[in-house]
Amino acid sequence: MKRIFSGIQPTGEIHLGNYVGAIRNWAYLQDDYDCIFCVVDYHAITIEYPVEEMKRRTLDTAIILLACGLTPERSKIFVQSHVPEHTELAWIFNTVTPIGEVERMTQFKDKARQHRANINMGLMDYPVLQAADILLYKAGYVPVGEDQVQHIELCREVARKFNTRFTPIFPEPEELLSMAPRILGVDGQSKMSKSLGNYIGVLEEDDVVWEKLRTAVTDVNRVRRKDPGNPEVCNIYTIHRAFSDNAMLIEIDRGCTSAGIGCIDCKKMLFENVKRELTPVREKARELEKNMDYVVDVLEKGADACREIAHATMEEVRATLGLYPPR
Ligand code: TRP
Repeated sequence: MKRIFSGIQPTGEIHLGNYVGAIRNWAYLQDDYDCIFCVVDYHAITIEYPVEEMKRRTLDTAIILLACGLTPERSKIFVQSHVPEHTELAWIFNTVTPIGEVERMTQFKDKARQHRANINMGLMDYPVLQAADILLYKAGYVPVGEDQVQHIELCREVARKFNTRFTPIFPEPEELLSMAPRILGVDGQSKMSKSLGNYIGVLEEDDVVWEKLRTAVTDVNRVRRKDPGNPEVCNIYTIHRAFSDNAMLIEIDRGCTSAGIGCIDCKKMLFENVKRELTPVREKARELEKNMDYVVDVLEKGADACREIAHATMEEVRATLGLYPPR
C-alpha cells in the first residue's frame, strides 16, 4: 500500500482551518493508504513557546487527532521527538540542501518577520527537518494544506540532490491537497491561525463558536440587510463550502445574491452544520481525556513502529554515505 506521512504542530488548540485543510482529510485517507501521522514537537520549538505547556499541548494534539477519527488500528500516530532519527536525517539533508532554497521559503520569511528577536538556524532549517520527516519513511504522498506545497517541493529537491550526489534511495513525494477550500480567520483577512487570534477552535463550546461566527466578517460590500451580497468574496460562504451540502450552498447563493437572506440567517445555517459535525468530535475528545492511559499507549505503539522503519532507513543512509560503521 502507498505510504502517507503528515505532521501537525502541537499548538494545543486545533482550529477549523487545520480540521478542514488537513485532519478531516487524513481520516478519510486511512482507508486507502499506509498512514503515519506525527505531532511535530521539534518543529514547534523553532519559535518561542511556553515550556511548561509543551507536554500538555502535545497530548492535546494527539487527543484531537484521535477524536477526529484517526485510529491506531489504521495509522501510526506518534510524537516526533520520540524517534530521534528525524533530526539525524535532517543533519544529513543539511549537507545537500542549497541555502538559497531555504532562504526563499515564504513560511521562513513570514516567521522571520514575526519573530525578529529570535531568527534562529532551526527556523531556517524547518523545511529540511520536514523533508527528513517524510523521507525517513520513504512516504510517497503528503496530505497538507496549500501553504505547505512549497515545503513539499523542497522535499523533492532534497531527495533529488541526495539521490544524485549519493545513491538513489529516496522517492520524490507528492502533496495531496484536500478538496476543501482554504478558510480564512473570522476577520475575513488572514489565514485562520492560532497566533493571529482569528480562529474557531475545534473543541470550543457552542456558545463561543456562535459568538465568533455571529461577529465574523462577511462580504464587506454588503453593508445593509437589503444589499445583495457576493458569496465569492465571503469567508462565511467559503466555510459553508466545507460544512454544508450542495442544496444548501445553492440556497445560500440565491438568497445572498438576491438579498433574500441576511448574513445572520446564513451564519445560523452554518453554525448548525458545524455543530452537527463537531459535537461528536468534542464528545470523543472528552472521553479520551478521561482515558489518558489509552492515548499515551497509542503514542508509544506508534513510536515503536516508526522507530523500526526509521532505524532501517538510517542504516541504509549511513551505508550510502560511506560512513565507517560501529562494530
Ligand atoms: N510544516 C507543517 C505545517 O506547518 C507541519 C509538518 C512538519 C509536516 N513536518 C511535516 C507536514 C511533514 C507534512 C509532512 O503544517
